[in-house]
Order: sequence, then structure tokens, then C-alpha cells
Amino acid sequence: MSCIQVKNLKKSFIDRRRAGRGGERASLGNEILVLDNINLEFAEGELVCILGPSGCGKSTLLRMVAGFDFPTTGEVLINDEPVTGSRSDSIFVFQHSGLLPWMTVWENVELGVRHIQDPEKTQTIQEYIAMVELDRFEHHYPHQLSGGMLRRAELARALAVNPNTLIMDEPFSGLDFLTHMKVREEVVNMHEFIQKTTLVVTHDIDDALIMGDRVIVMSGRPSQVKLDVKLPYGRPRDVLKTPELMALRDEIFFMLGVSYVV
Ligand SMILES: Nc1ncnc2c1ncn2[C@@H]1O[C@H](COP(=O)(O)OP(=O)(O)OP(=O)(O)O)[C@@H](O)[C@H]1O
Ligand SMILES: [Mg+2]
Repeated sequence: MSCIQVKNLKKSFIDRRRAGRGGERASLGNEILVLDNINLEFAEGELVCILGPSGCGKSTLLRMVAGFDFPTTGEVLINDEPVTGSRSDSIFVFQHSGLLPWMTVWENVELGVRHIQDPEKTQTIQEYIAMVELDRFEHHYPHQLSGGMLRRAELARALAVNPNTLIMDEPFSGLDFLTHMKVREEVVNMHEFIQKTTLVVTHDIDDALIMGDRVIVMSGRPSQVKLDVKLPYGRPRDVLKTPELMALRDEIFFMLGVSYVV
């Protein structure tokens, strides 16, 4: 079980560019407030998509949930326990190039579960590799794979680790349109399969509307939660044919400062 609570969270950074040499003259005036009193709760198994303008603090928020950074004030709790550091056993942070280059796909996937003694482990890993359609490529090295295949191998790694929480910061960035759609489909399939809390930051409003159980829109810095809405629609869903989703799409475009939408 994995319920995540973000309570009264504020995060500021010292702007070292404007601080005195060596930062010794840094004062409150040099502090940049990035996240301003964020209160959120993520239920177990929820797939939440987070949107917001560039620089508003989306990655910072995810980093604090993962325990890589800490709030200035407020707290992040997982199952009522404050996050005090990274927990690779329970949180999997999806990375664009998270694979070790000197290991094959199979070895990379196995790496996350090397400590687990399970007579069926080999077969399970093979199944996960097949789920992301990389069977026949399990003995390839990362440099022998395309960008989309690398992301799918990273998904197989996540499946093998079977974390309580999956954190994905722009998982489709840099992919061409069709590969983006394909990997997005794989992420949705994976979520249906593992049913674990998944937080996805994306710049693509359609990703959020197609994938999310819930969409959160953050404002510009100092960032606050501007919209937090549940999407009670099954998947796969056709946004274009769902009037409520189309209206929400317009609303989010408007919130993000784009008034004319195709
Ligand atoms: N370690 C740090 N030290 C100082 N400032 C930082 C640090 N990390 C982030 N920031 C600042 O915090 C703000 C938010 O950064 P963050 O990377 O969280 O934004 P983002 O919403 O993920 O943006 P993008 O959509 O472009 O990825 C930015 O102004 C950034 O410069
Ligand atoms: Mg970011």
C-alpha cells in the first residue's frame, strides 16, 4: 500500500547568481520561492499526470517525493512516514537512459531484482521483456536499441522491480510522434498490470487526458495547484469524442496561457 501526502509544502532555492560571491551574502532577497504551499494526496494505485509551465517546480516536486531533495517547510509522507531519503526498493524513478551501457537488456532488467531469490525469476524477467515487446532483443546492449526501445526496456526494469510508486518525469520527451504514442500505450498497459501509484510529469495535455486517473495543473512560479481533477473515464479513451474531456482540454490550454487550440 502506498498513499503519498504532500502537506503545506514550500520549496525555495537560493539564487546563487544573485547571491554574493560564494553565496556568503545570500539573504532572503535572493531566495526564489518555487513551490508555494502545495497540498496533495495521491491514493494507492492512482495514475496522476502533472502539468505546468516550464520552471514551475514539477521536477522539484517529484524529486521530493522520491526523497532526492527535501521541502523548505512542510513535509512529504508516504504511508504516514516522512520521506527521509531515497528508497529504491519502493520507489522507481523512470529515467531516459537508466540502463547500464555495458549490460544487455536482460542483465539490466535482472539488476533490479538480483537480490530476490525466486526459482521462477528467469521466466518472470523474460515475460516482462516480452510484455514491452523486446523479446528477441534481450541480449542486445543499450547502444544497439532505438530511443523507443530504450524507454520500453526501462519499463521492463520497472515491472521487474514492481515498486509501490513509479515516478516518471517527462517519460516521452525526445521521442517522435508515433513512438511517443506507442510508449505511452505501454505505460498505460503497465499501470493496468501493476496497479501502483504512478506520477507522470508531462508537457503534453493530451498525454494527461488520455492516461490520467487524475490531472493536476500547477501555476507558474511561485507555483500552486491550479487545477486538480479526477478523470472518471475508462482506458483506452478517445479524448476527441468525449465532450467533457475536450472542454477540460480547452480549459487547461487556457490555464497554461494558450488561447487558440486546434
Ligand atoms: N538545485 C537547485 N538549485 C537552485 N535552483 C533550482 C534547483 N533545482 C531547481 N531549481 C529551480 O527551481 C525552479 C523549478 O525547477 P524544476 O526543474 O522543478 O522545474 P520544472 O517545472 O520541472 O521545469 P521543466 O518543465 O522545464 O522541466 C527553476 O527555477 C529552477 O531553476
Ligand atoms: Mg522538469
